[in-house]
Amino acid sequence: MSLPRRPMNDALIQARKLSKSYHNGREQICVLRGVSFALRRGEAVAVIGPSGSGKSTLLNLLNGLLAPDSGELRVFGNPHTALTEGDWAEFRRTRIATLFQDGNLIPTLTVARNIAFRAGLAGLQQHAGEALLQQLGIADTAQRYPDQLSGGQQQRAALACAFAMQPQLILADEPTGSLDYATAQRVAPLFFDAIRERAVGALIVTHNPELAERCDRILELREGDLRPWDSAVSS
Ligand SMILES: Nc1ncnc2c1ncn2[C@@H]1O[C@H](COP(=O)(O)OP(=O)(O)OP(=O)(O)O)[C@@H](O)[C@H]1O
Ligand SMILES: [Mg+2]
Repeated sequence: MSLPRRPMNDALIQARKLSKSYHNGREQICVLRGVSFALRRGEAVAVIGPSGSGKSTLLNLLNGLLAPDSGELRVFGNPHTALTEGDWAEFRRTRIATLFQDGNLIPTLTVARNIAFRAGLAGLQQHAGEALLQQLGIADTAQRYPDQLSGGQQQRAALACAFAMQPQLILADEPTGSLDYATAQRVAPLFFDAIRERAVGALIVTHNPELAERCDRILELREGDLRPWDSAVSS
């Protein structure tokens, strides 16, 4: 890869005035209108906001699947304008785990093989697949295929894949959205253990107030703007 090795920098993401619009025929939908924030190593930041406010769009700017229209973005200290498609692919393979709202698993592989595949892509020979499945309460799904799992089991299997690659940055889009209350309570510590123990940074889009409250900060995306959440205003 062409990127220079940089000294360890606490800022995983630095975003300044990022904007993003979509074009549907003649219609232009302006989703982000100058979003600024930073995410540091070891920090968990929750992003809340109404449906359609641009939360998934924001995550996909940060993993390089979308490009901003304007603004400045630095990922692991690298300005996005200097990153090639190959650099982004390398980041997604080894350093950035994205948990999409759905469709994270490869349908033709069992859960155990999904985990091994993801860890292998990141260059890890050893992975804690069994232990992760145990922690997530789905040890019995290891030999099943994704379409043989419930929505919540799929979501937990996807989490296991993400943790198995030992990422530096986790971008999670409603990671507990399909989980019942008790299971969500059980899954949350995994996030926070990984974040604290490995100094992983996490941006977690969530509608789960308890998950959001456990994060270091809560940001709210509304009308294209990302601001510190003010519970007094929102309630
Ligand atoms: N590829 C696309 N082309 C055109 N419009 C899009 C596209 N993707 C998203 N949008 C629109 O952009 C807006 C933001 O979408 P986005 O998926 O980022 O919202 P969200 O906050 O993640 O919503 P949700 O909470 O429902 O997942 C929505 O109005 C959506 O319809
Ligand atoms: Mg979304």
